[in-house]
Amino acid sequence: MPDSRSQTTAGLPTRIDTSVAHEARVYDYWLGGRDNYPADRALADAIATHIPAIKTMARANRAFLGRAVDYLTREAGIDQFLDIGTGIPTAGNTHEVAQRLNPAARVVYVDNDPIVLAHARALMSSRAEGRTAFIHADLHDPAGILRDDSLGATLDLTQPVAIMLVAIMMYFRDEDNPHGIIKNLLDVVPSGSYLVITHPTADFDEQAMSRVAGAAEQAGITFHPRSHAETEALFAGTDLIAPGVVPVVTWHPTPGEEPADPESAWYWAGIGRKP
Ligand SMILES: C[S@@+](CC[C@H](N)C(=O)[O-])C[C@H]1O[C@@H](n2cnc3c(N)ncnc32)[C@H](O)[C@@H]1O
Repeated sequence: MPDSRSQTTAGLPTRIDTSVAHEARVYDYWLGGRDNYPADRALADAIATHIPAIKTMARANRAFLGRAVDYLTREAGIDQFLDIGTGIPTAGNTHEVAQRLNPAARVVYVDNDPIVLAHARALMSSRAEGRTAFIHADLHDPAGILRDDSLGATLDLTQPVAIMLVAIMMYFRDEDNPHGIIKNLLDVVPSGSYLVITHPTADFDEQAMSRVAGAAEQAGITFHPRSHAETEALFAGTDLIAPGVVPVVTWHPTPGEEPADPESAWYWAGIGRKP
């Protein structure tokens, strides 16, 4: 039986409130999942009126996550992942992609949504040779994540780690100190570690994105798209690997697949390496 565990940070709500929309459940709806409620679907559908291709875009973001983990495992020799803003488990979770290539890979998942906590068991289906853990915690308090016992019990922080911030930093305004939060995380991992970010952007259609931000804010969810330059700035302290910060569908596309229209998904994506 693999040594896997789940931990909740003191004070974080564990009750699932279905009366208001939640980020994880809205995204789950777009990905075709079943863990969403009327309030989530109402916001998801309102956003789809402004961006009809939103489901395709969410899937393109998710597909990037798989390619990024594949690249890091296969090409960069990474076998430890800290995946913050995990989302509701779905096909191609980080440990599944990594352990397919390296059964000994270890993954710590972090999410603040109680519904992700409720599904944490699916994230802990680790191969016996590897290990996974789930920490129910909030990225606004990176120190809380870093001092959680499950982190040190699962990852060896003297060895390189890939920090995954895939489709989460848009919930942080500049005043929430996203740069400081990312720096805190990078400071505890050694040289040779990686930082993975995707970020929705208004660069492709400013009006549509501003309506989406408005709909999200009305539902009580912070949604702060960032430009190419702003997304690139989140990689401070790392060296971007080729091709840099690019439209999510064009980052290391799967060989043999038809090239996608770069503007078909409005996310920037990149991977940086800590020197
Ligand atoms: C859009 S989903 C992305 C899921 C996955 N990373 C992916 O790209 O497929 C964003 C996730 O971030 C989580 N999240 C949002 N704000 C967070 C915070 N402050 N701390 C931890 N998790 C957060 C949400 O609960 C949700 O599960």
